Amino acid sequence: MAIERTLSIIKPDATRRNITGKISAAFEAAGLRIVAQKRLRLSLERAQAFYAVHEERPFYADLCAFMSSGPVVAQVLEGEGAVARNREVMGATNPADAAPGTIRAEHAESIEANSVHGSDAPETAATEIAFFFEDDEIVG
Ligand code: CMP
Repeated sequence: MAIERTLSIIKPDATRRNITGKISAAFEAAGLRIVAQKRLRLSLERAQAFYAVHEERPFYADLCAFMSSGPVVAQVLEGEGAVARNREVMGATNPADAAPGTIRAEHAESIEANSVHGSDAPETAATEIAFFFEDDEIVG
């Protein structure tokens, strides 16, 4: 399988509980390498831009308010089939449906405060990585 990169965001519910290290350790244990990382706080406008694809969804306003409510950690994860691998490690969007041992099963508080975001396809990953990182900030 090809080496890929994907974007991960550790969400405000996880930074608030000081579990960013635990989540990063789960990525590394799954064979994903953190090749870029920054902790930042999204403005409401930046959160709205990031999640623009969900603009019409009923949860959009709450999601953007939540994502700008505290710090996040944006990361680029690299590895074989990184997009799919990361989605396996995260577990289902709704923690009630997430397989045991996944990050969301272990740590998520709700479908909104679900601890992590991960790109859903290689094309999305490229756009989402560029949203947070310049090329020279990614060091594999
Ligand atoms: P994420 O992977 O960041 O992508 C969009 C986010 O919207 C999702 O994780 C959830 O945290 C959030 N969300 C809130 N409500 C819903 C819902 N009903 N269905 C899907 N995603 C939701």
